[in-house]
Amino acid sequence: MSTEKHKYFEHLSPHTTVEGVMALLTPTVLQRRETLHVNGEPISTLLVKDNTSQFGVYFDPTHQQWLKVANSLGLNRRLALSCDAMKSSLEFSCGEPDEVFITEVEIEGKGLRHALRMPHFGVSLDNLIRHRLVSKRETDAIYNTAYLYAMALVRRGFMFSDPNPGNILLHNGTGKGIVLIDFTNTHINCIPVQSCYDYVTRGFVDQSHKHGLTFDEEIAALSRQTVLLSSDKI
Ligand SMILES: Nc1ncnc2c1ncn2[C@@H]1O[C@H](COP(=O)(O)OP(=O)(O)O)[C@@H](O)[C@H]1O
Ligand SMILES: [Mg+2]
Repeated sequence: MSTEKHKYFEHLSPHTTVEGVMALLTPTVLQRRETLHVNGEPISTLLVKDNTSQFGVYFDPTHQQWLKVANSLGLNRRLALSCDAMKSSLEFSCGEPDEVFITEVEIEGKGLRHALRMPHFGVSLDNLIRHRLVSKRETDAIYNTAYLYAMALVRRGFMFSDPNPGNILLHNGTGKGIVLIDFTNTHINCIPVQSCYDYVTRGFVDQSHKHGLTFDEEIAALSRQTVLLSSDKI
């Protein structure tokens, strides 16, 4: 990795400045300042993305935290499932599942909302690709590893239904791996059947085509077998 790239990664520690984070976000982000009351405490945030019918995504530079706010009551359950799935994902990558939790947020004029609160984990695969920060070999390796995590999560009953590279983050703080975020979210309350694995696999194949990533079918087939054969522990 060149010095420039190395610097870049240092810049992306969990202590990354707000400018550092904003520089990485897509050009379409809103970047509007908004004060949210989180458990009664006023927190100055940047509104990064707002899909008014679903979720608002906010970044809190003071605490280096992200808040994903459900824009309607009906989405609370989905957010809670997403939280559980992310905890599992964090267990795989760094063993710190408690960093993610549901909190209550008040947005001026909009009342109380549920939000998923989590630290800034690090750069997304999307940003690595977009800014050409690492080689294709490295982005492919990250993507294929993310697939292994997704398979392990399916085994736990979590369907990773949107494996676009924006939902695959590198955990810079510990350097220990990958965090899958943004489970849109289906929870299967039974032993997953083959069609669940196939569904997630199809998602990865589709996204690999969209983003010029090489999805390794051989690894995919092997990892499916491994996951199916392995103990509940993974
Ligand atoms: N905890 C986090 N750490 C680092 N980046 C994050 C985090 N949460 C969200 N992001 C960034 O914000 C983007 C949008 O968040 P996401 O939860 O995927 O919302 P959406 O449902 O709008 O896709 C992600 O692609 C990622 O770049
Ligand atoms: Mg997303």
